[in-house]
Amino acid sequence: MVDPSGPGPSGPDLSVVPEDERAALEELAVRIAVEAGRLVRDERPDAVDVHRTKSTDLDVVTLMDTRSETLVRRRLAEARPDDGVLGEEEGGTGGTSGLTWVVDPIDGTVNYLYDLPAYAVSLAVVVGDPTRPGAWSPVAGAVVAPRTGEVFSARAGGGARVRRMDPVDGGAVEAAPTRLRVSDVGDLAGVLLATGFAYDRQVRVDQARVVADLLPRVRDVRRLGAAALDLCHVAAGRVDAYYEVGTHAWDVAAGALVVTEAGGVVSGLGAQDPASETMVVAGGPAAHATVRAEVERLVGAP
Ligand code: IPD
Repeated sequence: MVDPSGPGPSGPDLSVVPEDERAALEELAVRIAVEAGRLVRDERPDAVDVHRTKSTDLDVVTLMDTRSETLVRRRLAEARPDDGVLGEEEGGTGGTSGLTWVVDPIDGTVNYLYDLPAYAVSLAVVVGDPTRPGAWSPVAGAVVAPRTGEVFSARAGGGARVRRMDPVDGGAVEAAPTRLRVSDVGDLAGVLLATGFAYDRQVRVDQARVVADLLPRVRDVRRLGAAALDLCHVAAGRVDAYYEVGTHAWDVAAGALVVTEAGGVVSGLGAQDPASETMVVAGGPAAHATVRAEVERLVGAP
């Protein structure tokens, strides 16, 4: 199992990838993630079986997680044979270009298992080493939610956007995207706060303590069940902030770029810490600062 990691405030230099190449990488991420999204949506069996479990009995893999990752890897091998790949189900494959694709073939697998619509294919391309916190930076990425038809994407320095897939005039996605912008809420009492819970039942005991402290003091709490979509919802201003312990690079790589390109901030527990398994906090600048300080106090507390 690779170490989980996250983007760092001062990660590797992105200027090695010129702007026109970033735009092409974003469109490639969109195209492949849409194809994988269609696969998992259109070929979902009526009764989805748990294929195997991973870290705990609650951490499930379905056959469609495996099929989705296989499709993404095949498309990447065709289009970008020199790039590395780090996938949730199959681990890491080295490359020679300095770019690595980080793949979550179905983020929100438990939602998928239960046929709840909040699941997505998440695909990002990063410079640096996505297995080490702070040692990588996302260049481009896409998060595709095939049941709602939303395609979120971003490229470094090029903004974040959402489009619909399967437009009536044909093509993979509609031509005219909508730019994303985070909210400007900063007062804790007004924050609509998203979070997630670990597959480890013991870790949830601590998570329950933290959320119990925050719940009476925020506007409300949302637990959607797909970290990549939580981040995209931060970017769209649909929630004001998000925090979670225990996410992996494949859960957050694309969504974190969507947030920062929508004007938001993503960090770890400390303001200068990179997002990591230890903590991811994301929000508009004001909500991020407020929530990060609260979470730091609560997670640091005995
Ligand atoms: C999970 C989801 C969930 C989050 C977990 C993730 P998966 O990803 O994003 O919302 O709470 O931390 O592991 O397992 O469905 O790809």
